[in-house]
Amino acid sequence: MNRPKPINVLSRQVYNQIAAGEVVERPASVVKELFENAVDAGASTITVSIANGGLDEIFVQDDGCGIEKEDLPRAFMSHATSKITDANDLLGIKTLGFRGEALASIASVSETRIASKTIDEEIGYVLTSSGGELSEITESPCMEGTAVTVSKLFFNTPARLKFLKTARSEESEVTNLIARLILANSTVAVKYYVDDKLELESFGDGLKDAVRAIYGVEALDNCYEISYDKNGILLEGFLGNINYYKGNRTYQTAIVNGRWVVDQTISSAAQNAYAPYLMKRQYPFYILKIDVDPEVVDVNVHPRKTEIRFQDNGVIYAVVKTVISRVLDGTEEAMNIIVNRPRASIVPTVSDDKPISEVEIKGKPYETFSYDRFRTPYEKSSESEYYSPIFEKKEESLQAKEPDYSAGYDVKPPKKLKTDVAQYVQEITDFTDEGALKSESLDDIFRKNKEYIEKCEREKQSYEQITEEVDKPFRIVGQALNTFLILECGDEIIMIDQHAAHERILFDKFCLRLKTNTVAKQRLLFPYAFKANALEADMITDMKNLFEDVGIDILPVGDGVFNVCSLPVELIDIDYDVFFRDILTDATFKDEKMPGVLREKIIQKACKSAIKSGDKLSEMEINSLVDQLKNNRQLKCPHG
Ligand SMILES: Nc1ncnc2c1ncn2[C@@H]1O[C@H](COP(=O)(O)OP(=O)(O)OP(=O)(O)O)[C@@H](O)[C@H]1O
Ligand SMILES: [Mg+2]
Repeated sequence: MNRPKPINVLSRQVYNQIAAGEVVERPASVVKELFENAVDAGASTITVSIANGGLDEIFVQDDGCGIEKEDLPRAFMSHATSKITDANDLLGIKTLGFRGEALASIASVSETRIASKTIDEEIGYVLTSSGGELSEITESPCMEGTAVTVSKLFFNTPARLKFLKTARSEESEVTNLIARLILANSTVAVKYYVDDKLELESFGDGLKDAVRAIYGVEALDNCYEISYDKNGILLEGFLGNINYYKGNRTYQTAIVNGRWVVDQTISSAAQNAYAPYLMKRQYPFYILKIDVDPEVVDVNVHPRKTEIRFQDNGVIYAVVKTVISRVLDGTEEAMNIIVNRPRASIVPTVSDDKPISEVEIKGKPYETFSYDRFRTPYEKSSESEYYSPIFEKKEESLQAKEPDYSAGYDVKPPKKLKTDVAQYVQEITDFTDEGALKSESLDDIFRKNKEYIEKCEREKQSYEQITEEVDKPFRIVGQALNTFLILECGDEIIMIDQHAAHERILFDKFCLRLKTNTVAKQRLLFPYAFKANALEADMITDMKNLFEDVGIDILPVGDGVFNVCSLPVELIDIDYDVFFRDILTDATFKDEKMPGVLREKIIQKACKSAIKSGDKLSEMEINSLVDQLKNNRQLKCPHG
């Protein structure tokens, strides 16, 4: 076991250079700080336990170096840390914490108890704080390491209590955070309890095991395991195959030097690499672990310490984008990057003796999104060597050289390129949804709003016109191209898209049933068993009542398996596995959105049973469809 370093109070001059001042916002922020302190203490095992979403109690125990008796009061002081001593240390931070602020902030708004024992002490010591008021230090037998208990969070700041969500939401937020922390600290064994129930557990056996612990074997089966190591950048992780996309960004984790980060450069690079294969609102699954020299990453950007700044965003963007593109495109270079291929059968299989480039990869519809689009700014400035040390020298990459960290981060472009890099990154940022929003001026937004309102007005007028016409006496002329119904109405001809019209009818019917709680449900002869991972199981339990409201009866049968016993009749023919995964991905962790998401998904599926374009209809079917349409005021398919 390692020995603790002394805790110093930072000088004002150093302290003023730190992005500090964040307040503790919610239980998840407390858990994050305590967990990261345990990691910094060199723990190999961390136990986290929360009660009532962390509002009643948060407990984090580690087997790290502990805190010396005389340092215990200092641990509670602001600006006191054992992790840095002077301003130079800020240039290459290797620990997760460095501000000397977290415990002081937590202690000031709660009752906090620290029990700690170092290897050199016979017995452990306990110090408690109530809203910042410290008790006497007492002796207590305890294991080597540190245990922190935080209770009565925000007892002295009622205003902050008001901003908390329900205990269930706070709990979900903590669970989601622990999942990220387990992935980021995959060599630490973690046990996470919610109200005394073991919710997540990892064994510290590396990233692959951490991914399995969080997302289940199914995720591993659907991922490429990758490893790329060149020019001082080590990029490892798991990339979901192109069919394993999700409905939001929750399943995207970026880890830089062991820190879970939310970084626009990495996420844009990944999103753009997947762009040729995914549709709008389909988000890739990935866990990317990047290790670089700490001196080229600034972690002192935001008090929350999840944002970072790279010395050169362009380099990181290029590496992430190119590595992922190569894997997905199946280029020859990908052979040096892929450690394991997805096992799931939905992925194009690649036999071991066949170069990946020969294999036909599903998808890739939009060539215009290709890598070259993003290379242009560099090529214009004829600085192709910017890429070459990393990507172009194929022979070198095949030699599987030992990583040369002494070479450091030696891929910086020449100075004059700096502005181009900035533009380049800007172009990329603009390209993403968020970037596009940011770059829009107010005028643009007003103009778009105006256009939108005008469009709605025009559509409304055309609906009214059409519905009026349908109300007139009509004669069914027939069906054209097995796609349109042709009606004669006075001296006019009306063409109706049969698929859109039927979808609209089903949609309205189902909405009415949901509204009036008259969903027709059907019992399944053999229940369908759904195997959920820990996060999904949590959400299903949360959504049990919502499921019942819409006609889905789902029962836990143990080991993360749920039996679906009945479904609304409209859903009987669907692929249940896809349906449930889809819902659980989209429902995220925001309970207030769940009912809406669930209903939307069910309606979407229900609409799938609509008559298709190309279906030949009998005269009776045409009559029945037109009859139903007469009662429908909006002749448009529900998806617009
Ligand atoms: N679990 C722990 N094991 C050992 N020492 C700890 C532990 N938690 C806190 N400490 C000691 O207490 C000090 C203060 O912790 P605190 O979290 O307030 O600051 P920090 O981790 O240094 O910086 P930051 O505010 O960025 O988290 C740490 O520098 C460390 O020396
Ligand atoms: Mg800390």
